[in-house]
Amino acid sequence: MFKGKARAYTNIALIKYWGKKDEEFILPMNNSLSLTLDAFYTETEVIFSDTFTKDEFYLDGEQQDEKATKKISTFLDLVREKGQTTLNAQVISQNFVPTAAGLASSASGLAALAGACNEALQLGLDNAGLSRLARRGSGSACRSIYGGFVEWEKGVDDFTSYAKQIPSDHFEDDLAMVFLLLNDQQKDVSSRDGMRRTVETSSFYQGWLDSLDADLAQLKQAITDKNFQSLGETMERNALKMHGTTLAANPPFTYWSPDSLKAMQAVRDLRKQGVPCYFTMDAGPNVKILVEKKHLAAVKTACNHLFSEKQVVSAQAGSGITIIK
Ligand code: PMV
Repeated sequence: MFKGKARAYTNIALIKYWGKKDEEFILPMNNSLSLTLDAFYTETEVIFSDTFTKDEFYLDGEQQDEKATKKISTFLDLVREKGQTTLNAQVISQNFVPTAAGLASSASGLAALAGACNEALQLGLDNAGLSRLARRGSGSACRSIYGGFVEWEKGVDDFTSYAKQIPSDHFEDDLAMVFLLLNDQQKDVSSRDGMRRTVETSSFYQGWLDSLDADLAQLKQAITDKNFQSLGETMERNALKMHGTTLAANPPFTYWSPDSLKAMQAVRDLRKQGVPCYFTMDAGPNVKILVEKKHLAAVKTACNHLFSEKQVVSAQAGSGITIIK
């Protein structure tokens, strides 16, 4: 019997990953850059044993259905190949997120699973190797191997596509992110389907790709200069551009809800009042607001006027993957 357990934190992209050039290996069309956060994380234990007749997957104490288990099994097959074993496994995962979060936990989930498997089968993967492995489970998971600011280098093949930490001289310690949990329903269009539809049909998609390098360069410069305004403006612009591509897809779609728009307006109003803060959104209606810690209280107060207390959750920069003994 071989066992391993790991914890990984979620990450939010400041420059988004949006579109795959290879669906099997999950190679992205563009580089992305994220901040790892401490508020939401996943702990996963994996046990490989000859007593199991098939793979089993438990999430928050409940055995998962065939579809969810199949996704985990496909990932475990990669691990079994690397570890040269045919043993079935039990995967026991716990998501530490506030109830009704409606937050995708695939990044922290698959990163934690990759770390647990590395430990269980003593695969000997370093962080780059873990990042590559996590990427095969869910693209954004490759960034959750590290804490702080993380760039996923798109690469050209399985070996060259992985994430690295960006030197930041602790800039992330000045920052906070407020999560506005606006909807806990299963999303209509998964990130996978949304990306595929956008890449294949959106006339705006080329514009996204064409402007990506400039956004990325500006955001990295902002990190180097510890320039919060430039960081926030670039992040917000990049998110709006990503969401713009979905409107020109066929059929068109959007992840925004009326509450998302309300939250965006609140951020703009705060800026007018002299509170520097900026928003970003992923493949769902939740809005995340980036702010310097010194203005966190002002942002939370404004959000609490518009949304219920349990919808407003703040986070700080989080750390990389940890092995739990
Ligand atoms: O890794 P996935 O398949 O969950 O896709 C993540 C896509 C976005 O959250 C929209 C952007 C990103 O870079 O995290």
